[in-house]
Amino acid sequence: MADYDFDVLVIGAGPGGYVAAIRAAQLGLKTACVESRATLGGTCLNVGCIPSKAMLHASELFEEAASGKLAKLGIKGTVELDLETMHAQRRDAVKGLTGGIEYLFKKNKVEWLKGHAAFTSADTVDVAGKSYRAKNIVIATGSSVTPLPGITVDNDAQIIVDSTGALELAKVPGHMVVIGGGVIGLELGSVWKRLGAKVTVVEYLDQILPGMDGEIRKEANKVFKKQGIQFKLSTKVTGAEVKDGKAVLTVEPSAGGDAETIEADVVLVSIGRKPNTDGLALDKAGLTVNGRGQVEIDHDFQTTVPGIWAIGDCVPGPMLAHKAEDEGIAVAENIAGLTGIVNHDIIPSVVYTMPEIAGVGLTEEQARERGEIKVGKFPMMANSRAKTNHEGDGLVKVISDAKTDRVLGVWIIASLGGTMIAQAAQAMEFGGTSEDIAYTCHAHPTHSEALKEAAMAVQGKPIHI
Ligand code: FAD
Ligand code: NAI
Repeated sequence: MADYDFDVLVIGAGPGGYVAAIRAAQLGLKTACVESRATLGGTCLNVGCIPSKAMLHASELFEEAASGKLAKLGIKGTVELDLETMHAQRRDAVKGLTGGIEYLFKKNKVEWLKGHAAFTSADTVDVAGKSYRAKNIVIATGSSVTPLPGITVDNDAQIIVDSTGALELAKVPGHMVVIGGGVIGLELGSVWKRLGAKVTVVEYLDQILPGMDGEIRKEANKVFKKQGIQFKLSTKVTGAEVKDGKAVLTVEPSAGGDAETIEADVVLVSIGRKPNTDGLALDKAGLTVNGRGQVEIDHDFQTTVPGIWAIGDCVPGPMLAHKAEDEGIAVAENIAGLTGIVNHDIIPSVVYTMPEIAGVGLTEEQARERGEIKVGKFPMMANSRAKTNHEGDGLVKVISDAKTDRVLGVWIIASLGGTMIAQAAQAMEFGGTSEDIAYTCHAHPTHSEALKEAAMAVQGKPIHI
C-alpha cells in the first residue's frame, strides 16, 4: 500500500461509481471517488431518474385534478398550476438525495476528490492538478446526451433542449416536438402534455420504444395516442432552426420522400445517450474504446488493462441506474477478492409514464427465435383493483418455455407496472416457472394479481377472463 494513495479510486459518482466506492470502503479498502460535478449522484440524481420522476409525479396529480377525472370520484373544485413550486419540489428532491450521498461518503470514509480525472498512466490519474496513484481504478464516467447532427441544443434559450433543459422549462410550451419516441421522449413528453402542451413525437422507426416486446410497443402507442400525444412514426428530422423565438423543424419519411416543416415552441432532442469516455486520456492507460465509445470489459468488469475496471453507462449493456448500481457492488466485491456477479439476462426496465411500461427478460419475438414457448396474458381491465381505481389500460404478459415452463420474460403495461415487475424479476432469478407464479398466493385486491392471472393463462386457466 505504501506506494499507492488508494486501494480503489473510482472515476464518477453516479449510481455506478458512488455505490462501488461505498461498497469498496465497507469492505475495508481505502477508497476515493472523483467527481467533476458540484454534487454527487451523477446523471441519475442530478438530471435524470430523480428529477424526471419528481416532475412525472407532480404533473400526474395536476392532470388528474385539472382534467376533471377526480370529479368522477366525487372530488370537485378547480386547480391551478404553480409551475415554479413544482420545479422547487423537484430541486428539493435532488438537493436532499445528492446531499445524502455526500453524507454516505463521510459515513463510510470515502474521500471525494473534486475535479475532472484524466489518466497519466495505467495506475495514476490527475485531478485538479494533483496526481493520485491507485492499485485499482474503476471507470464509472456514465453517459451524456447524443447530439443530432445539424441541430444545436441551447438549454438556456429553452427552445431546442435536451432532457436537462426539458426538466427546467420556465413555462408550459404551446407545442412541444419530441425527437425520438424512446424512454426520455415519452416520460418528459408526458410531463408537458399533462401540464397543458400539445405534444408531437417524431420517431425514426415504425414504432416507439425500441428494444421492448412488439405487442407492448403497439399497445403503449395506442394508450399514449388515447392520451392525446401525437406521433409521426417512420419519420426523420433533417434540420431545425430557430426563427422569432420558435423552432422550425424539417422532417421527411425515414425511407425518403417529401419533406415538410413543423413549428414548435420547444423541441426536445432525445435520440439516445453516449458513453463519457472522451477526455479521460484512456490511451495513457493503454485502453481503447469500441465503435460505440464504450470501454469493453469481461464478466468480472475488468478491462484489458490489469487493475482497471469499468461499470455503468460507459460499458456495453442497457443504460439504467439499477444496472449501474448492481455493477458497482459487484466490481467492488471482485476487487476485494470476493465473487461479484450481475445477471445481465434479468435487468428490468421501466418507463415511468401513466400507465407504466415494464419488462424483464426476453421479448416474445426473442423467445420465439430460441424455441417453443407459451404465452399467457391478462388485461388490467379485468383486475378488480385496477378497474376500481379507473386504471384499466394495459395488460400483463408472461412468456415461458413450452417444455420446462421456466419464465423467459414478463411484460407489463399497468399503472403500477414498475413495482409489479420486481416480482417477475425475482421469480426469474430463482429459475421460477409460470406455475410457481400462478400458485403463489397474491394479496387481494392488488394490481399484482394480474401477474398471477397472466401466469395462470400460460396454463390456459385464468379465473377472471
Ligand atoms: P452517471 O450517472 O452518468 O454518472 C457518471 C458521473 O461521472 C457524472 O456525475 C459525471 O459528472 C462524472 N464524470 C464523468 N467523467 C468524469 C471525469 N473524467 N472525472 C470526474 N468525473 C467524471 N435510469 C433508470 O434506471 N431509471 C430511470 O428512471 C432513469 N431516468 C432517467 C431520466 C433521464 C432524463 C436521464 C437522462 C437518464 C435516466 N436514467 C434512468 C438513466 C440513468 O440516469 C443512468 O443509467 C445512470 O445514471 C448511469 O449511472 P452511471 O453511474 O454509469 O453514470
Ligand atoms: P432511447 O434510446 O430510449 O430512444 C431514442 C429514440 O430515438 C429511439 O426510439 C430511436 O429510434 C429514436 N431516434 C434516433 N434517432 C432519431 C432521429 N434522427 N429522428 C427521430 N428519432 C430518432 O433514448 P432516450 O430516450 O434518449 O434515453 C436514453 C437512455 O436513457 C435510455 O436508453 C435509457 O437507458 C435511459 N433512460 C431510462 C429511463 C428509465 O429507465 N425510465 C428514463 C430515461 C432515460
